[in-house]
Amino acid sequence: MEIRTYLDEQRRKVEDRLAAFMLEPIGAFAQHIEAMRYSLFAGGKRIRPVLCLAGAEAVDSDEQTRQRALPVACALECIHTYSLIHDDLPAMDDDDLRRGKPTNHTVFGEAAAILAGDGLLTFAFELLSGAASAPLPDPTRIRIIQTIARAAGPLGMVGGQSLDMIYEGQQVGYEELRRIHRSKTGALITASVVCGAMVAGADEDQEAALKTYGDHIGLAFQIVDDLLDVEATTAELGKSAGSDAKADKVTYPSLFGVETSRTMAREAVQEAIAALAAFDYQADPLRALARYIVDRRK
Ligand code: IPE
Ligand code: IPE
Ligand code: MG
Ligand code: MG
Ligand code: MG
Repeated sequence: MEIRTYLDEQRRKVEDRLAAFMLEPIGAFAQHIEAMRYSLFAGGKRIRPVLCLAGAEAVDSDEQTRQRALPVACALECIHTYSLIHDDLPAMDDDDLRRGKPTNHTVFGEAAAILAGDGLLTFAFELLSGAASAPLPDPTRIRIIQTIARAAGPLGMVGGQSLDMIYEGQQVGYEELRRIHRSKTGALITASVVCGAMVAGADEDQEAALKTYGDHIGLAFQIVDDLLDVEATTAELGKSAGSDAKADKVTYPSLFGVETSRTMAREAVQEAIAALAAFDYQADPLRALARYIVDRRK
């Protein structure tokens, strides 16, 4: 299967549903909704929602199943987009380019950007708990909401972002760096795959295998993000290259150098693919996505 075609197809489904779900910039809250929409529709890769759909497909390839996973996929993208808006704020990474456009706070101001992030995060849980996800059985829904809340929260993404800030300009060891990457980026990526599988009715063994897969690609994803910050251009990335060195971030290339970091990312992807051994061709999209994560140029 050509991964680009697959990704494009799945991404289009996500875009369509995001457009359908998202609030319109009209009425009393139009300005706030405009700021949310600005970043959400700025053209991200949509990797997390696509991983969610591919996680569902690995367990059950019925198109209906993927349809039921779409609200969950869209909620994950809302949470991810919120994390980017806040990550770019002057108090955090202080970046002025994101998804090829000026960052949210440079366009709307800091207060509006903080609130756009808050709006997207909260809206995600409305998607997960409201009418959009009603076709899912309630016990499944509750597990998905809990899994995503945990992955995005103080012991997951937010916790990792907090460590990322605390360790700026400091010497950090391997264990600590891996913890940062696994929590700030890996946790939501793992949750994306696992929640897709939950929609499809995965059994315990399948869920465990997909969690292992997610943990490995999640780590690889952030190692590659660090590498691209060193190796790619601002034009390629649609965000400022060299941002990590400027902020004195602790990253894989800063600790291990570029070559070793790339090897480590490749090894993590191999381990991710190995974790899918019990799955048949239905997990081919997940296998292809793992390779894409390490080969990507943006
Ligand atoms: C960037 O995520 C932030 C990280 C967690 C590394 P992506 O590389 O998925 O960004 P978009 O969504 O495509 O803009
Ligand atoms: C961000 O990591 C992780 C998030 C949870 C947003 P980075 O700070 O490296 O992400 P980029 O490089 O700005 O996209
Ligand atoms: Mg950051
Ligand atoms: Mg950043
Ligand atoms: Mg980065």
